[in-house]
Amino acid sequence: MSISRRNFVRAIGLSGLGLSSVGPSLTAANNESASAAQPTNRLYDAGFINLSSNTSPRGPSEAVLNVLNERITKGLGRYPENVGVLTEAIAAREEAQVNSTFHCCFSDQVLLSTGSGEVLVGAVRAFVTPSRPLVIGHPSYETPIRACEALDLPVKTIAVNDTWQLNLDEMAEAAQGAGLVYLCNPNNPTGVGHSRRAIREFVEWVVEASPDTAILIDEAYIEFAKDPAIATALPLALANPNVMITRTFSKIHAMAGLRIGYAIGHADTLERMRTVARFGSVNVLSAAAALVSLQDSDRIEWEISENHKVREFTLSAFREMGCRITDSQTNFVWVDVNRSPEAFREACFSLDVLVGRDFPSPSNTYSRISLGTMEEMREAVAVFKKVLSSTA
Ligand SMILES: Cc1ncc(COP(=O)(O)O)c(C=O)c1O
Repeated sequence: MSISRRNFVRAIGLSGLGLSSVGPSLTAANNESASAAQPTNRLYDAGFINLSSNTSPRGPSEAVLNVLNERITKGLGRYPENVGVLTEAIAAREEAQVNSTFHCCFSDQVLLSTGSGEVLVGAVRAFVTPSRPLVIGHPSYETPIRACEALDLPVKTIAVNDTWQLNLDEMAEAAQGAGLVYLCNPNNPTGVGHSRRAIREFVEWVVEASPDTAILIDEAYIEFAKDPAIATALPLALANPNVMITRTFSKIHAMAGLRIGYAIGHADTLERMRTVARFGSVNVLSAAAALVSLQDSDRIEWEISENHKVREFTLSAFREMGCRITDSQTNFVWVDVNRSPEAFREACFSLDVLVGRDFPSPSNTYSRISLGTMEEMREAVAVFKKVLSSTA
């Protein structure tokens, strides 16, 4: 019995939406690139506009696709020779110190992993214990909580304030005696961010009051921040053994399918994670792609500016519809849909638009909507208008 792609997606449900198997092949993606402006060119062309997972609708650059194609040779029979080079390139770019005593260019202040989610789990394993909980905002990115649940480790959640900002004062209080504090800046799913100064003050306070507590600052979306006060906490991570930051190639580099992320911190801090957790090894194709993308600052600027334009359009559209919406510093928006997010998601789904999964939130009427291309968002906004104009 044949099953349409759309029905296939319906059959596996929203949670099954990794969808890489229904995306175009590498060769197809290259062939399609000549007609990139065509309206039908969606990364996930199962008949849906996919605004559910905060990934780039534009995908990686041509240069990245080319290097992947070049690398598909019999050379794949060898182990990766370029992972150390990538580590060194990240270290150089992030001004981390490369430890030159390792002749394979190994930087002990950079920990590569197959997606930054893996480092978050590693940090839970290394720093949270039955008597030293995880402290995390609520709502925030949930992987550290899931890791604690799986390991039966304690979690203290601190509700965000009424402007959806992480409640840094309460988190600092809760951090006393904690094993790990997870700060997502800007925060997923609320989209808002904290200034470098606020983060620095938070870190200084926690280090003073609770010197054995580790602080992980997740900067998965930091490049998208438009507020100039929101900036990386990298200097804090390089200066302070309690602090590490995590980054990913899944968002600004548009390479979620290639699975690369990393942590930067003091060598001893990262070593603690290495001793308790296994980090998947980055493969030769992903490392080659990441190396190209890392050096392509024009492309990164372009991705930022496309995201910015689409974000402004989407924020204005929701404001015009009378919806409350946070001042997104990311590649998604967090909007009050004035009904249960589940009902909103189902209604959008029936009109072929996928929005984010449900997040626990104080009011429970907010939905997270990732940003697609401008063309996708124009179509999606028409759907949102239709859904929101119906009775809740
Ligand atoms: C805040 C945050 N951190 C980490 C991740 C994990 O990203 P990845 O494992 O693809 O690097 C995500 C993914 O959506 C995220 O939103």
